[in-house]
Amino acid sequence: MCGIVGAIAHRTVTPVLLEGLKRLEYRGYDSAGIAVLDQDHTLLRTRRIGKILELEAALQQAPLVGRIGIAHTRWATHGVPSERNAHPHVCRERVAVVHNGIVENYEALRGELQAKGYEFTSETDTEVIAHQIDVFLEQGLPLLKAVQATCGVLRGAFAIGVISSAHPRELVAARQGSPLVVGLGDSENYIASDVFALVAETQRFLFLEDGDTAVLTTDGVEIYDAAGAAVERPVHETRIAADAVERGEYRHYMQKEIHEQAIAVEKTLDGRYQGERLLDEAFGDTAAAIFDQVRNVQIVACGTSYHAGMVARYWMEEIAGVPCQVEVASEFRYRRHVVQPGTLFVTISQSGETADTLAALKQARLIGYTHTLAICNVPESSLVRESELALMTRAGPEIGVASTKAFTTQLTALLLLVIAIGKRNGISKEREVAIVRELHRLPSQIEQVLRLEPEIVKWAENFGDKKDALYLGRGMHYPVAMEGALKLKEISYIHAEAYPAGELKHGPLALIDDQMPVIAVAPNNELLEKLKSNLQEVQARGGELYVFADVNAPLESMAGVKLLRVAEVNDVLAPIIYTIPLQLLAYHVALIKGTDVDQPRNLAKSVTVE
Ligand code: G6P
Repeated sequence: MCGIVGAIAHRTVTPVLLEGLKRLEYRGYDSAGIAVLDQDHTLLRTRRIGKILELEAALQQAPLVGRIGIAHTRWATHGVPSERNAHPHVCRERVAVVHNGIVENYEALRGELQAKGYEFTSETDTEVIAHQIDVFLEQGLPLLKAVQATCGVLRGAFAIGVISSAHPRELVAARQGSPLVVGLGDSENYIASDVFALVAETQRFLFLEDGDTAVLTTDGVEIYDAAGAAVERPVHETRIAADAVERGEYRHYMQKEIHEQAIAVEKTLDGRYQGERLLDEAFGDTAAAIFDQVRNVQIVACGTSYHAGMVARYWMEEIAGVPCQVEVASEFRYRRHVVQPGTLFVTISQSGETADTLAALKQARLIGYTHTLAICNVPESSLVRESELALMTRAGPEIGVASTKAFTTQLTALLLLVIAIGKRNGISKEREVAIVRELHRLPSQIEQVLRLEPEIVKWAENFGDKKDALYLGRGMHYPVAMEGALKLKEISYIHAEAYPAGELKHGPLALIDDQMPVIAVAPNNELLEKLKSNLQEVQARGGELYVFADVNAPLESMAGVKLLRVAEVNDVLAPIIYTIPLQLLAYHVALIKGTDVDQPRNLAKSVTVE
């Protein structure tokens, strides 16, 4: 994974690089580093273990001054987080490289390079890139050609930025499978893993394609395709605002993002209707004709986005009456498929850069899925660019690693998709209008459920010393339970599992004792009675029950159960509402545990490696 940034200018680039790194910290935060060429073309490098603040402090003590430089924030893949393994990696004080991705054949290359006398100082796969470029420079190749030749021997996915003391007026970049954008400034140019990293400097971008290499100077940018031919890539103007995202009155971004959900959902819905009828154009100009042909839906995603897909499967089959399958992207991409004719291939991703989801999309096209649609939060992302149709969730930047508003806006967007497909498949105008009316009430219902926070804070106090927790739900609330369990494990480090409540007796019941809190989601739907029986099975075994239940759910008779009442909500929309108290519970448990809520250990927000 990791985030990379680079710049070439007529001024010192260190502030640009540092600001870029801060904006890329969501991609990894176990160590960071920067390398510049100073006015004598000497390669200078500073690296620090820990967050970017540590690097910033080191640079305040000993500034690096240079008009060309590269920088990196790391999420360890090969080698522990340490200063030694932090990027940039250098070769013979002559070449410095930052890398995002994985070099799959690094062991073989390392052997060959060691045989040539190159010494390795890290355990990373990246260091081979620096040495390999040096091999080609030694043969007399210019920097661009040396980088291109190196890309030719690397296997795997990578985006790299390279500087060399032998070529001090060029910053060279290459992209193969990992994201990389080029920012165009005024007599200065930049590279970065995403647009957001550079919006404080420029709004003008070129998106490199797989196989592209680029040479950046202060005068301009030249791009070459995989065959080495000069190519033009279109310039895009971004609408992403330059202002850094503020935490405001909130203690963490995650808390802020939980509380932004009403507004975020309102934005997801905005302009997507005319009166009470959904506009197909919201999905793209060709959406109407494509939706007419849809007979089946295949959803692919990772993490929280996968949970959104699982809820959508219930909706798609129940409301639209269209068969729907959901699979995690890392599984989808490595198995054989029977492609049903008329299938719409739907990817869901907050970032639009998740490597497995992108690879699954590519794979899907190769094996014959003809129509693709992305539900995504980032308009400039690779996923959106590579999909035929897209629906933006408009959640706004999500900084907390544990996804919250991205999830509820994904669900909202998915419901729009379900309606769009359902309309062609017999869903009545009345049903459509009824769901749309409920959707418009959603923001105020979100505000209402957020008011449970003080009571959830009290519940959270019981979780501080717990090692495990079990989440239960039935029907479309099973994926909600999964999302609740994921939130708890991500940020509080308490082991949490989710089960469809009916499965309890087939194993997990053995885990129940007075040390195992069981959290259940109990809306007042047709499965409530069944769920109640499952909860009684837990109670009979001394389990401690925490139940989020509809105001009207008849659960009073269950003595000793901790109950929090959620205002009445339409069945279809209940998964969106019931997710929110689970987010709050995880957040407040994490506060009690004193973890790093926004940047939990070992994780990153956007996983751009397999
Ligand atoms: C990482 C993040 C999760 C996210 C998942 C998928 O694991 O920590 O919060 O759900 O990636 O990311 P995407 O951007 O594709 O939704």
